[in-house]
Amino acid sequence: MEKLVISGPTPLKGEVEISGAKNAAVAIIPATLLIEGVCKIENLPNISDVKLYCEILEHLGAKVTWLGKNTVEIDSRKINCSTAPLEITRKFRASYYLIGALLGRCGRAEVGLPGGCNLGPRPIDQHIKGFEALGAKVTVSNGNITAECEKLKANSIYMDIVSVGATMNIMLASVLAEGTTVIDNAAKEPHIVDLANFLNTMGADIRGAGTDVIKINGVEKLTGNATYSVVPDQIEAGTFMLSAIASKGDIIVKNCITKHLEPLIAKIIEIGGNVEYNEDTVHVWWSKRTTKANIKTLPYPGFPTDLQPQMGVCLAISNGTSIINESIWNSRFQYTEELNKMGANISFSGQTAVFDGVEFLYGAPVYATDLRAGAALIMAGISANGTTEIYNLSHIDRGYENIEEKFRKLGAKIERVTE
Ligand code: EPU
Repeated sequence: MEKLVISGPTPLKGEVEISGAKNAAVAIIPATLLIEGVCKIENLPNISDVKLYCEILEHLGAKVTWLGKNTVEIDSRKINCSTAPLEITRKFRASYYLIGALLGRCGRAEVGLPGGCNLGPRPIDQHIKGFEALGAKVTVSNGNITAECEKLKANSIYMDIVSVGATMNIMLASVLAEGTTVIDNAAKEPHIVDLANFLNTMGADIRGAGTDVIKINGVEKLTGNATYSVVPDQIEAGTFMLSAIASKGDIIVKNCITKHLEPLIAKIIEIGGNVEYNEDTVHVWWSKRTTKANIKTLPYPGFPTDLQPQMGVCLAISNGTSIINESIWNSRFQYTEELNKMGANISFSGQTAVFDGVEFLYGAPVYATDLRAGAALIMAGISANGTTEIYNLSHIDRGYENIEEKFRKLGAKIERVTE
């Protein structure tokens, strides 16, 4: 078993380069199934979810060639199967994009019901509603989901809730459908715009991504023969920005799109952190003990749920009592129990957590309960007095490229140890 061993406290200092966005990459890779040609994708994060997805594509008949650590060439001319390897797809959440992509390409998709981080119930009713509106017959049995249709036909689809996954999945399914599909009350996250840009580069006709109405004019085929670079990961950028504050440090975060970070920048300034930024670089530094704040997680452009645990670490050591209301996921406060083992004073009930700020945290053995919880615990370990051991690293490896090396370059004393 592997664990991370961190000796703190260390004020992090220096520069860090942000990788490509995980949540864009895990939609763009299955999107290549829609292309009857070859395409090259650059700036892919080298993480386990991406590698798993490439394996699935090979199983379906695509030829996947790594041209470097972060660049892959995918040839989807010979897709010969519409049944995804069910055991692999059950391992991670983003495998649901195979349903939209395979349905669009082959008229049939069979996928194991998606697993992933345990953040509470994760229904896919809005995805199914979208596929059915396009004319597909969807059945769920024995832990698998099957969607079938001879020829998908465009429709207008109103999303009952704002869902990142459902918005992207319906985009995937409708790119090759007959007519113009309209998604109303669509999610607006940067990775939705990135998926639309990727598909348009390959020959699709998608308009309005990034607003709450997306129009997809069906085209006959996507031909590929193009290169696309994945957008920088705003959650990774935010994790390092908050690490500067939690560790009493000074970090320059490079290769990010600061427009995507505005909700976080506003909160860092509100708690007393310092931020300066231009279009693609943000400098964050600590100069005095931070103070309390109240936060409600919301779909973009609200405060992102995927930065809630990392912000929670900052609030756990800020002066005063802060409240976080988590409006996206039911079980995203499990990390607070781990932080309490490190001396934090956090209580939660349902969707609300109360952080009574303490002066400092101390090292302890803790468990990464999900991906972002894992990142938050690394931040906590770097900021805490003494030695922290973090277990359950597979969660962290799913979504952060070279995380300990990036933290080490900023001065953290962090090692991966096999027990
Ligand atoms: N929901 C439904 N029905 C649906 C779909 C979603 O009720 O059919 C609910 C969910 O239960 C949740 C809310 O709608 O309460 C939002 O879910 P959404 O569909 O937007 O989430 P997702 O697509 O499953 C993606 C990211 C998550 C991120 C959320 C919210 C990927 C692979 N995952 O999940 O990322 O938290 O959007 O921004 O893109 C992470 O990276 O750590 C992570 C969990």
